[in-house]
Amino acid sequence: PTIAVLNGPNLNLLGTREPHLYGTATLADIEKSCRRTADDLGFDIDFRQSNHEGALIDVVHELRESAAGFVVNAAAYTHTSVALHDALVTVAAPIVEVHLTNVHAREEFRHRSFVAPVAKAVIAGCGPDGYEFAVRHLAALALDTEK
Ligand code: DQA
Repeated sequence: PTIAVLNGPNLNLLGTREPHLYGTATLADIEKSCRRTADDLGFDIDFRQSNHEGALIDVVHELRESAAGFVVNAAAYTHTSVALHDALVTVAAPIVEVHLTNVHAREEFRHRSFVAPVAKAVIAGCGPDGYEFAVRHLAALALDTEK
């Protein structure tokens, strides 16, 4: 089984982008740790990033029936995208929303999420560990439903 990991705009710049906020790990580092965790649990990872709202929606459509779960860090589209929300509504598998930073301790405009209403869980402020926690949780859920 495959866990999809979706990353929104500007996350390709991780490592150099506002490191005081987002840390020094690159998106490739995060991908590696997701793969390591998933591999230990017998899962594959389909890891994607796009700076384009429609491209992220296309990925949801592509994987909505096959993925065992979705880790979603929609970055700024979290706070703006009704279209991504509507795409995620069509996903039957569980979704975990992840943010590197604690969005609730930041600007007001980051407090609203269009992903949260369709997420089973939300992880914010754990840095790259949040992705790993999300992968672990989705793998546990998938193994549980197999029983
Ligand atoms: C983010 C938080 C968002 O508010 C921001 O637009 C991002 C990254 C995070 O991972 O902390 O790009 O999703």
